[in-house]
Amino acid sequence: MKIGIIGSGNMGGCLGKLWSSTGHQVMFSFTQDPKALDEAAASAGGRTGTAIDAAQFGDVVLVAVPWAAIDIALKDAAPALAGKILISCNNPLNADLSGLSLGTNTSAAEEVARLAPTAKVVEVLFPFAQQLQSGKLQSGGQRPTQFYCGDDVDAKRMVATLIGELGLDPVDAGPLTSARFLEPLGMLMVQLAYRQGMGVNISAQLLRH
Ligand SMILES: NC(=O)c1ccc[n+]([C@@H]2O[C@H](COP(=O)([O-])OP(=O)(O)OC[C@H]3O[C@@H](n4cnc5c(N)ncnc54)[C@H](OP(=O)(O)O)[C@@H]3O)[C@@H](O)[C@H]2O)c1
Repeated sequence: MKIGIIGSGNMGGCLGKLWSSTGHQVMFSFTQDPKALDEAAASAGGRTGTAIDAAQFGDVVLVAVPWAAIDIALKDAAPALAGKILISCNNPLNADLSGLSLGTNTSAAEEVARLAPTAKVVEVLFPFAQQLQSGKLQSGGQRPTQFYCGDDVDAKRMVATLIGELGLDPVDAGPLTSARFLEPLGMLMVQLAYRQGMGVNISAQLLRH
């Protein structure tokens, strides 16, 4: 599969590298430092381009940027995302990590869908990048749960496969509006990691009894 990446920092760089290692072709885009883009592509064996290039290249496109940059990240690329699967891993975190700048009656994922109205948006708030790339995702033989949500059944099926390739257990959390509840869960993980001192080597698991 071809995966375009808009935002090639911690998450974009990490996911591009991991998906490249499972056999996908990746294109990195959208940094303020062109050197960082080249480094991400070199370490993943991928290519580089503009956000529009990444949108045109990908069968699936990941947008992974700080919330304050979401408008500019999607502004030019949105028309090229028509009919494409757009994975949003963006949590609308305040810059000081004190909370979420929106939520419960809308969500970052719904705002992404508003900015790219012809894309099939699926939200996946992955575990911390450091944990993802640690190679130590499992605990007691169990995979961490990875909730995802969206309105297009086929897009969600494809994204579930990509989630599984990372060593996570994909769990369908329903329509895109479920992002209203997934994003606070992501915020809780940030709170546990940084304010409660647990660090980033944590993840969550859904137990079915
Ligand atoms: N990191 C995690 O573990 C994690 C986990 C779950 C969810 N998330 C979510 O994923 C999203 C991305 O997080 P991240 O940690 O990957 O952030 P990051 O490391 O700061 O990466 C953001 C990327 O966007 C680029 N960028 C930002 N503003 C830009 C602008 N105005 N113009 C061009 N490029 C710009 C950055 O380029 P420069 O570096 O050159 O500025 C960088 O490539 C966030 O919404 C976050 O909430 C992150």
